[in-house]
Amino acid sequence: MNKKIFLLGSTGSIGVSTLDVVRQHPENFSISCLVVNRNIDLLAQQVTEFRPSAAVIYDDNASCVFRDRYDFPEVNIFTGKTGLGQALEYCESDVFLNAFVGFAGLEPTVRAVEMGIDIAIANKETLVVAGKLITELAEEKGVNLLPVDSEHSAIWQCLLGENSLSVTRIILTASGGPFREWPQEKLNGVTPEQALKHPNWKMGAKITIDSATLMNKGLEVIEAYWLYPVTEKQIEVVVHPQSIIHSMVEFSDHSIKAQLGIPDMRIPIQYALTFPERLPLDVAPMNFYEQGALTFEQPDFERFPCLKLAFDVLEKGGTYPAVLNAANEIAVDAFLNEKIRFTQIPQIVADTLDGHQSTEVTGVEMLFELDREIREQVEKSIRLKQK
Ligand SMILES: NC(=O)c1ccc[n+]([C@@H]2O[C@H](COP(=O)([O-])OP(=O)(O)OC[C@H]3O[C@@H](n4cnc5c(N)ncnc54)[C@H](OP(=O)(O)O)[C@@H]3O)[C@@H](O)[C@H]2O)c1
Repeated sequence: MNKKIFLLGSTGSIGVSTLDVVRQHPENFSISCLVVNRNIDLLAQQVTEFRPSAAVIYDDNASCVFRDRYDFPEVNIFTGKTGLGQALEYCESDVFLNAFVGFAGLEPTVRAVEMGIDIAIANKETLVVAGKLITELAEEKGVNLLPVDSEHSAIWQCLLGENSLSVTRIILTASGGPFREWPQEKLNGVTPEQALKHPNWKMGAKITIDSATLMNKGLEVIEAYWLYPVTEKQIEVVVHPQSIIHSMVEFSDHSIKAQLGIPDMRIPIQYALTFPERLPLDVAPMNFYEQGALTFEQPDFERFPCLKLAFDVLEKGGTYPAVLNAANEIAVDAFLNEKIRFTQIPQIVADTLDGHQSTEVTGVEMLFELDREIREQVEKSIRLKQK
């Protein structure tokens, strides 16, 4: 196997873990292109080490600074969204690993699917916003959607060799986040610093806040719906604070398959890149005696309303999931910038959904327009609340 990886978001948490997988298997993987937003100094280190044929810097100013500061004559440097399209044409790639964060991941996914490149998908927001469009387009183009999220990788592995008609439930596990045992009153005073401390996983800021509100699990419910042959009623969330069981599938005989391992994203990232094979990986093996008990709890929809909101929008369909995503991205950003309280995140998302008239999603262009409108609307309402 020698796979050429087009890596979107190489400077983020998933991007850096992906490069560590590549570093461990230089004979199996190489990097065709690295794509970042602004972190040009880390990009320069990555270019030096992995020698891609191209790199894309989304941000115009950062791209100018990079060209002034660094000189990589053998690497073609492209800028912005147009540059991404040019790099996709220029580089020969076997797999497109999308580890951008947020709605920004949608457009690149569409382009790569249209070009017929297999997608390893970490950017769950793409499927939340445009699950139907992306899965239909992928089918039309014969493109594989390879899950990177640990839960979806677990479900994928549990489904192997099974008849999809025998699946009765998909059970997504959730750590419950850092505030799992906090009473409602205390949640009002949560600071960004507290919310950024996830008990089991080290991740980017946006997904860490989403994990604390349980919106991340809600987004994963929607992602699972689009990736696997189940109805929304067949998807269940179980809080499992140790994050050892990554998810489970139940079959018609009530037998349940689970996939386990230590919480380390390099494991599902590598599996997405090597499927159906496995390669060794230098991560700590599981020690059951040190680990001790694995426990399970029901999620609390009252203290963590984001999870309920995600189930609701999945059931209602139309443009609701895209609205939930846009409102959440702006609310999380406002919380991180100390403009709103932690408990205002679900309130803002719920209010935005209440004021929205859903329509059918007819194409990607309408999603760009809708996303822009909702962001403006939510930013405005946050500004007014601050006055
Ligand atoms: N982290 C995890 O363990 C984990 C697990 C499962 C799924 N995921 C999913 O994977 C995705 C990435 O998560 P992460 O934790 O790796 O995020 P992250 O650490 O915040 O990294 C985000 C990456 O996207 C780039 N980026 C940010 N905003 C952008 C924009 N507007 N346009 C273009 N590029 C932008 C960043 O570039 P710069 O650094 O140059 O700004 C960075 O490379 C998310 O969708 C998340 O839900 C993550």
